[in-house]
Amino acid sequence: MKKVLVLPGDGIGTEIVAQGVRVLDAVKQKFGLQIETDHALIGGSAIDATGVPLPDETLNKARAADAILLGAVGGPKWDDLDMAVRPEKGLLGIRSQLELFGNLRPAILYPQLADASTLKSEVVSGLDILIVRELTGGIYFGQPRGIRTLENGEREGFNTYVYSESEIERIGRVAFEAAQKRGGKLCSVDKHNVLEVTVLWREVMDRLAPEYPDVELSHMYVDNAAMQLVRAPKQFDVMVTGNMFGDILSDCAAMLTGSIGMLPSASLDANNKGMYEPVHGSAPDIAGQDLANPLATILSVAMMLRYSLNEVAAADAIEQAVSKVLDAGIRTGDIWSEGCEKVGTQAMGDAVVQALNELSLNG
Ligand code: NAD
Ligand code: IPM
Ligand code: MN
Repeated sequence: MKKVLVLPGDGIGTEIVAQGVRVLDAVKQKFGLQIETDHALIGGSAIDATGVPLPDETLNKARAADAILLGAVGGPKWDDLDMAVRPEKGLLGIRSQLELFGNLRPAILYPQLADASTLKSEVVSGLDILIVRELTGGIYFGQPRGIRTLENGEREGFNTYVYSESEIERIGRVAFEAAQKRGGKLCSVDKHNVLEVTVLWREVMDRLAPEYPDVELSHMYVDNAAMQLVRAPKQFDVMVTGNMFGDILSDCAAMLTGSIGMLPSASLDANNKGMYEPVHGSAPDIAGQDLANPLATILSVAMMLRYSLNEVAAADAIEQAVSKVLDAGIRTGDIWSEGCEKVGTQAMGDAVVQALNELSLNG
């Protein structure tokens, strides 16, 4: 029996995860999978219940699980709390404690959504890129950090951007291996012209390259990469970058797929144990209104089945079901266009479950 820990979190997190769990239940039934689910608190809801964003009970359950499904954390209610007890600290804490350093963020444009993107359809049609983001290091975790008062009474905030060679090497290997399985192209994104950390980053990527002769490695500055992502995104196959650049570039890539509500992610440790979550946040502006697109979460369930639970057929079935739902013109508001049927979060979940069940009837 495999164990999946479900962490709904805050805001739309609870709404979208509920649909993800329904889809997981549907494939469990369809494929006879032996998977049990348990729930725990993280983020603002954990702060409200226990005073901390990552309770020990959650961390212990996460360590014992084979995979974790997370919604999103954060919201205005907790925005004024001290950094150490903010909801986001819970998410960063679980990533770091479980050493989930390899964050895969695939940006794939479903052909049915070519018109949903704010970019011209010829720019994005056929888009299939993978952003590999380092997730447990860099400026997010570097020490020292804080806000201090100077002698003149003025305060200054400071963070440290640091990567060790071994941290760069392990994320580099994840990216080279991913590129080997895909189109054979890897673009490493850095700020080598300004930041020493990324001088080392580039050096390590170059050092690894001869071990992967079937992968063509290139380098790009992050500012140019942001521009190229909206100018001509199909030039990319796999992109690898550090924690903060990867955060920013993946939101940008999300929009190429029509909506941030479409982008799933996997955060993996060295043994492919992982946490799966949509790339978007808790969307306080639409929370509790049945408006959120649950497809990024549902597609994250597919990634979980593929990478951590080794149930490739079930993963394929979910992706096919999503495609069928889009074929049928069913859309949440964020991906809606003229002539399509606008539905809410739950109805989108219903549609995916129904499409899955129909797949099983047809064999
Ligand atoms: P956000 O991703 O929550 O929302 C940005 C915009 O995208 C909003 O207009 C929102 O309505 C829309 N959106 C997001 N997901 C959507 C979906 N599934 N369907 C339809 N529309 C969707 O980012 P934000 O507003 O900058 O942050 C809100 C909160 O979420 C903050 O507290 C932030 O820290 C947190 N956050 C959490 C995560 C996470 O848990 N992984 C990620 C990003 C932001
Ligand atoms: C993400 C989010 C998180 C990050 C925040 C909420 C800590 O933006 O998962 O992309 O910056 O990593
Ligand atoms: Mn982000």
